[in-house]
Amino acid sequence: MKNKEPLILVIVIAFALLTYWLVEPFAHSQMHKHVEGKNFAYADLPALTKVGNAANGKELTMGAAGCTGCHSIIKEGAPAGMDPVTAAQSYGVNPPDLGEAGVLYDAKFLAELIKNPAHALKVEHKFDAAKGQMHPMVAFYGAGGDIDQEVADMVAYLQSIAVKKDELTPKMAYENACGRCHEMRYEKWTQIGTKPSFKFEKDLLAFDIQVLEYQNALTAYMGKLPPDLSMYIRSRSEHFLSTFIENPQAHLAGTAMPRVGITADTAHKVIEHMANSGDTKRDERASIGTNVMWYILVFAIFAFLWKRSVWRDLH
Ligand code: HEC
Ligand code: HEC
Repeated sequence: MKNKEPLILVIVIAFALLTYWLVEPFAHSQMHKHVEGKNFAYADLPALTKVGNAANGKELTMGAAGCTGCHSIIKEGAPAGMDPVTAAQSYGVNPPDLGEAGVLYDAKFLAELIKNPAHALKVEHKFDAAKGQMHPMVAFYGAGGDIDQEVADMVAYLQSIAVKKDELTPKMAYENACGRCHEMRYEKWTQIGTKPSFKFEKDLLAFDIQVLEYQNALTAYMGKLPPDLSMYIRSRSEHFLSTFIENPQAHLAGTAMPRVGITADTAHKVIEHMANSGDTKRDERASIGTNVMWYILVFAIFAFLWKRSVWRDLH
């Protein structure tokens, strides 16, 4: 009798591969719009043409440009003018502390944000100055000199006070860039900060009421409450998360989530923090995966040897 086994094996493998292709790459491509990442280059924004002077930038940021009227810069001794809830009730969202802005955000993006917030954030569909819909972050119209120089000075100042790139942890990246809008309950993070552990129930309730009041103001500003991101790493691919952060409009046209303008490195850290929250067993899983493959390989060798010894006597 001719040996048909190799042929059967080939047919089984071919069908398995076809089924896999239909279920995974093919179905996926039909159900999700494919958005190509642009490596956080923000090519639509003009390049910085001036070399900034940080000392002059400090004067502008703390003075004429009025940044510290809305934003705290705690490490530079500029406190917040309001608590987060009152700030959200005034602006819709709590303006973030600017201590790490220089490392979190792309320099070109920062410059454009200062001059034209709605444009940099890609929310002009919601904030059209011609229709009197002003963005809550007031644009900077210049302090009397060359506006491009003044903006470059402020960017240089923000970069000079921020931590070095490798000192920015995944947690810091998330809390600074996303934390004013998205809570992350698995990490005890709320939009008004980390939830402390309270001794008395009444203090816990008082804190929760603050969070709810903040969320009401945020919902009114955004049109919906931004989702808790504790488990998003499970429901969305890394490719989706990365391209969504880079340009939310490319996935969800008309969404209220702004383009936050972070660098590729910051985005990488934000996603790492999301994985630290929602997928704590990923290292373990990877090592178990390798062990299972070894087990199957050894098992297959034994099965083959056993089959040979059984059939040897029957042929
Ligand atoms: C009138 C208040 C106000 C002033 C003045 C102001 N900002 Fe803001 N800023 C805001 C608010 C509100 C937000 C949050 C907007 C949002 O998330 O939709 C914000 C957001 C930001 C962000 C985060 C942007 C992002 O991509 O997430 C940075 C950085 C920033 N401002 C820098 C500055 C700098 C630098 C200045 C001074 C040139 C300044 N702001 C002046 C209110 C203000
Ligand atoms: C100014 C508020 C704001 C900031 C800052 C913000 N987001 Fe959002 N985000 C939203 C809103 C609002 C939605 C809901 C969008 C919708 O459904 O239209 C959203 C939705 C999302 C979603 C869900 C998308 C989906 O497919 O359902 C993800 C993921 C997300 N944001 C990630 C982030 C990350 C990561 C950051 C920080 C780098 C961030 N966001 C910063 C407001 C914000």
